[in-house]
Amino acid sequence: MGTDYLNTHVADLVIERPGRSRVFEKFGLDYCCGGHRPLSEACTKKGVAEAEVVAALSEYDSKPRTEGEKDWAAVSMTELADHIEQTHHAYLKQELPRIAHLARKVKAAHGPEHPEAIVAEEAFMALKAELESHMFKEENVLFPIIRQLDSGSGAGQAHGGSVANPIRVMMHEHDTAGQLLAKMNNATSGYSTPDDVCSTYRALMDALATLEEDTHIHIHKENYILFPRAEAREAELLGAPA
Ligand SMILES: [Fe+2]
Ligand SMILES: [Fe+2]
Repeated sequence: MGTDYLNTHVADLVIERPGRSRVFEKFGLDYCCGGHRPLSEACTKKGVAEAEVVAALSEYDSKPRTEGEKDWAAVSMTELADHIEQTHHAYLKQELPRIAHLARKVKAAHGPEHPEAIVAEEAFMALKAELESHMFKEENVLFPIIRQLDSGSGAGQAHGGSVANPIRVMMHEHDTAGQLLAKMNNATSGYSTPDDVCSTYRALMDALATLEEDTHIHIHKENYILFPRAEAREAELLGAPA
């Protein structure tokens, strides 16, 4: 029997096969901060045809799993935290300064005729500040606690007691990042490039589209795989039901 796509939560569909995120990106369906809803509900909310999404998912699933499409729920929490730092955080550290440079240039050159370039620059600068401080907290506070929990210690030793406290803060920041990405996406009509602009404008739109997709995937791994496992592990170590 095939997957009951429509009655499964969108975030769970991506846990099962990470590459399905491509399909959801294409239809603008949220598998990130708002991924805790069945696919049918997500389609209704977005106004997209269920049959088209199901057909795209079935087609995707008919292909064999690629090498890079790892089952992140099956690796250790330490391995997943390392992977997030080495790929998603490393990508952000490299790209955020470069995109900031592009966004400033585009705003100065095209802001007067294209006010969306001004909205995008302002939202991007807020996002950059948010993500930089967010990564610092994950790398220096939360992920070290998660690695400790993975090795069987550290339960109840987070600031404020439970690991649930820093996790709640991080998830709140993920919501903020998601809203800023949506603001840029809406202002630029899905990162489209007007006809009368320079190639820097297109480079910025391409960079923002990639940033949005990578950040959705990044947040999905934390919100739906790493964080719930850390909370369950802590409960297990404290002897409480997970
Ligand atoms: Fe992160
Ligand atoms: Fe995060």
